[in-house]
Amino acid sequence: MSDAMDHEKKDDELPQGLQLMPMDEQFRNDPYAILKGLRERAPVHHDQQLGRYVCTRHDDVREVLRDKGFFTDPRKANPGSFSREVLIHTLGADGEPSMLFMDEPEHRRIRGLVSAPFKRPAVEKWRPHIRGIVRRVLDAIERPEFDLIGAFAGPVPTVVIAQMLGIDPDRHDQFKRWSDLVVQIGFNPFPSPAQKSAGDEATEALHGLFMAEIQARGDQPGDDLLGALIRSEASGDKLSSQEIVLQCLLLLVAGNVTTTDLIGNAVKALLDHPRELAKLRDNPALIENTVEEALRYDSPVISSGRIPDRDIELSGCPIPKRESVNVSLAGANRDPAVYPNPDSFDISREDTHHQAFGGGRHLCLGAHLARVEAQEAILALLDRYPVLRHSAKGFVYHSIPSFRGMSEFWVATTR
Ligand code: HEM
Repeated sequence: MSDAMDHEKKDDELPQGLQLMPMDEQFRNDPYAILKGLRERAPVHHDQQLGRYVCTRHDDVREVLRDKGFFTDPRKANPGSFSREVLIHTLGADGEPSMLFMDEPEHRRIRGLVSAPFKRPAVEKWRPHIRGIVRRVLDAIERPEFDLIGAFAGPVPTVVIAQMLGIDPDRHDQFKRWSDLVVQIGFNPFPSPAQKSAGDEATEALHGLFMAEIQARGDQPGDDLLGALIRSEASGDKLSSQEIVLQCLLLLVAGNVTTTDLIGNAVKALLDHPRELAKLRDNPALIENTVEEALRYDSPVISSGRIPDRDIELSGCPIPKRESVNVSLAGANRDPAVYPNPDSFDISREDTHHQAFGGGRHLCLGAHLARVEAQEAILALLDRYPVLRHSAKGFVYHSIPSFRGMSEFWVATTR
């Protein structure tokens, strides 16, 4: 039997399609058992229902993400593949891709013009503001038992990005409502008709808000993030107003739910592991490690993808050119070939590397910002509440494709 036929046969008996996505209840509640099964039985699995190859090994994921020849623009994928049939629906209304789905040379141009404010030193300047925002969000919590997502992890990233962009504080509530709606359709190839129309309306509204703000600033762009995007210039090239607006929308879609999920997943991991929580309370300097371990242990973005520009073979499985390769970041981050005791949450783990932010050309632009937000949020939360535990009201995982996090997570702050 040829290698390809061998793979097809094995793959028939394995989970397919939506069974490998958070819309499926079993996968939503415990993706790790399913990903472990795949990694052991078919580390490169041909998911025939959705037309994609799913990789779960650390080294395969790394190799795919770092290959500079691979594409991400779904329009380049073969008909019938996941990228071409499904992901293509996440492109903007004008059919144009955001940075995430752009290939060279457009990707290099846009990323080059947008990246300066996201570099570590620029983000560190925002740390004191982020600390202040986190405290103010905590101040607004009045009850001893609350939904950590609705009251804390949800608002923090939206308020941070609103302040960074220089949105008028009087409009923050409206900005948050619109960003939440835009996020519902952002990377979701399966939105309900109601989500779709509300998301489109909110995109339109935010588009108007950003455009008006850019015009109002005229030749005084300001020193916030929006100002940095307006001023940004490389070799005489600048972003047009329309490009700036599109990047701002991408920041909301790529940065809000992901950071909310990181804060929620990290706090849940700590509450599930009281010894780790006690370690962090005793030694807050472990916060950086804690956030890295949370990113590895319960990654907020569980998968990304690439489209090979040539026929390839991965872990013995042939993949024809321009098919969809889905890289399971969550699978890679729990690979026992790389991480000792991958399923244990250990905030003093020495090797904290992970692939939660993807890799290669498309490595998350907001990685350092997300880290700073999560570090400040978790430290402030523990500082504010000497007692923090699961509430009997429990938690609910959301079902946004490619993301992992909770829509509700109830905590109690009394014994
Ligand atoms: C914990 C929070 C976050 C996680 C887990 C995360 C994860 C990711 C992943 C997996 C990718 C795709 C990488 C790839 O395919 O190689 C990505 C791309 C991206 N992320 Fe994040 N992200 C987070 C927060 C943020 C924030 C806060 C922002 C900005 C405000 C942001 C902006 C972006 C952008 C612009 C891209 C596209 C980069 C490109 O295509 O060159 N992300 N992120």
